[in-house]
Amino acid sequence: MKDIVLRISRIAKEAGQKLMTHFSLLGQAEVFHKGRIDLVTVADQESESYIKEALHAAYPEIGFHGEEGGGSVYDQGRLFVADPLDGTTNFVHGLPLFCVSIAYVVDGQPQAGVVYAPYFDEFFWAAKGEGAWHDGRRIHVSTTANLVDAELEFGFSCVRAGLKPDTMPIASDFVYRAQCIRALGSAALALCYVADGRFDGFWEYYIRPWDWAAAQIIIEEAGGKLTDFRGGPVDWRTGRVLASNGLLHEQMMAVFAERHQN
Ligand code: IPD
Ligand code: CA
Repeated sequence: MKDIVLRISRIAKEAGQKLMTHFSLLGQAEVFHKGRIDLVTVADQESESYIKEALHAAYPEIGFHGEEGGGSVYDQGRLFVADPLDGTTNFVHGLPLFCVSIAYVVDGQPQAGVVYAPYFDEFFWAAKGEGAWHDGRRIHVSTTANLVDAELEFGFSCVRAGLKPDTMPIASDFVYRAQCIRALGSAALALCYVADGRFDGFWEYYIRPWDWAAAQIIIEEAGGKLTDFRGGPVDWRTGRVLASNGLLHEQMMAVFAERHQN
């Protein structure tokens, strides 16, 4: 496991440096549409090719599941699960909230994960039983115990995917019950902020494994929880993710239960 952690750490940092060579310098010809508002850039593609090739060279026997190239089924066998650029829309608009995320997953259970935000040079990692770390410092989730004191993060991908239920009624419930809600535009990074206590909770409908797999182990090793909206394991096909410091989990689940959106 140590070897895998070191290797994915190095690869994520290298991929992050590759992203930085494009940041703020992208021309229109380097941005493409996967859907009406779903963007991909040459930076995503270069980063994923690099990650995929580097992992394959080191561990040819381990599968790969990546945002741009797709890949294996998430919950079977040994896999690397990577988002080469999480926060593509921010990246295109010159906002520095983006990251590279790589997880090592066995039968759907993340064993190790790294998240690197190159603009801020912030590095998060965790491995099963070894704690969660941010730039050499052990991290822990917040101790916020009441929703009214919580700063929460969410995302809109179900809207982008054209799926129902829409997240906005839930967002409006949380606006009135939490201290504040934010939408930073990089799920992997925001989930790491739950792990280190900057945020107290997170939710999103229809989020893909490359957005949460690395962060799941980072949150769990930091003492928090990442589940579906009912407190069970996340179904990677429907991607309903609720993360929190653990203390707020029941209170957040109750908001979903009231809306009958589980
Ligand atoms: C997206 C971001 C966003 C989240 C979406 C993701 P991408 O990833 O993490 O915050 O709301 O669900 O798809 O497209 O920038 O890699
Ligand atoms: Ca991405």
